Amino acid sequence: MEKTIDQIRDDALSEIEAAATPDDINALSVRYLGRKGAITRYLRNISGLPADQRPEAGQKANQTKKLLEGLFDERLEALAGRTDSDSRIDVSLPGRAQAPGMLHPVTRISREICEIFAGLGFDIAEGPEVELDFYNFEALNIPKNHPARDMQDTFYVSDNIVLRTHTSPIQIRTMEKQKPPVRVVAPGKVYRCDSDLTHTPMFHQIEGLLVDKNISFGDLKGILTTVVHRIFDEKTSLRFRPSFFPFTEPSAEVDILCVICRGKGCRVCSHTGWLEILGSGMVDPAVFDNVEYDKDKYTGFAFGMGMERIAMLKYGIDDIRKFFENDYRFLRQF
Ligand code: FA5
Ligand code: MG
Repeated sequence: MEKTIDQIRDDALSEIEAAATPDDINALSVRYLGRKGAITRYLRNISGLPADQRPEAGQKANQTKKLLEGLFDERLEALAGRTDSDSRIDVSLPGRAQAPGMLHPVTRISREICEIFAGLGFDIAEGPEVELDFYNFEALNIPKNHPARDMQDTFYVSDNIVLRTHTSPIQIRTMEKQKPPVRVVAPGKVYRCDSDLTHTPMFHQIEGLLVDKNISFGDLKGILTTVVHRIFDEKTSLRFRPSFFPFTEPSAEVDILCVICRGKGCRVCSHTGWLEILGSGMVDPAVFDNVEYDKDKYTGFAFGMGMERIAMLKYGIDDIRKFFENDYRFLRQF
């Protein structure tokens, strides 16, 4: 027996209720209102009914058709934007783990080194990254047009302002503020127009400055050797190599045996077997003059260490640029 219009309507209502996606609604619309749909067929069959029943049946069928059209539109709108997969929640799937945050390897090294120096009685100092030419160069005995400026590829902000090329300006700022004795380390970002396997345009240094009576090159050697041995281990080979800085005299750079090739020579150490980690020296008397320290009474030493270099050696990383690519697969190893 054919379904009555009331039955067709009730079936349609419960199917619309159960529909979960726009596709479901579209399929229902075809099944009820399409050319061969239930309502369409019902309307077509009205002509076969006894004449006295036709008007009421026709009226009811048209009302039902309107009702369903409205409901299909309404549901389509409500479901719009929802895709098939949204509607099916698979409760057996494993949850998405929240990866805990962690410190960047350079931040960790920086904190570790600061802690070692704090243990040796050093205070922590800071200075601005956008620095006056005076502090970055002039007070450090590097006058304008001095060839030593070529040693560092400087980003100039204006004639008199630079992105600091090293943490050494903090030496001057510290000595301006306090009288000897001075014993500080100053970590921070520095900038140079430079990029290859062992150089990046932004990197981190940690500056050290110790000024007191009777400080000698032996103190410099002793402190730096102790610190390097604490950062790595007692067996780490290091060498002091004569060098030049306008603000120290004498000056030395410190190299560490390349851990990547164990001294055999590789691309990281430019086939020398050694990697430079810091510059250092005895504070030049001309710098003491600039900050009005009595150069006949006091001596001191200073150094500037490259933190990425330390991190490379400590973790065996062969390209310094990896620290700044923010590749989570790289960073989460530490
Ligand atoms: C200096 O910057 C001096 N201010 C160091 C100093 C301080 C000497 C106090 C005397 C007294 P240098 O340019 O060599 O020196 O840099 C110091 C260290 O920073 C290097 O040994 C190296 O470890 C690191 N370094 C230098 N340039 C880069 C770079 N582009 N990327 C990464 N590390 C670098
Ligand atoms: Mg150097």
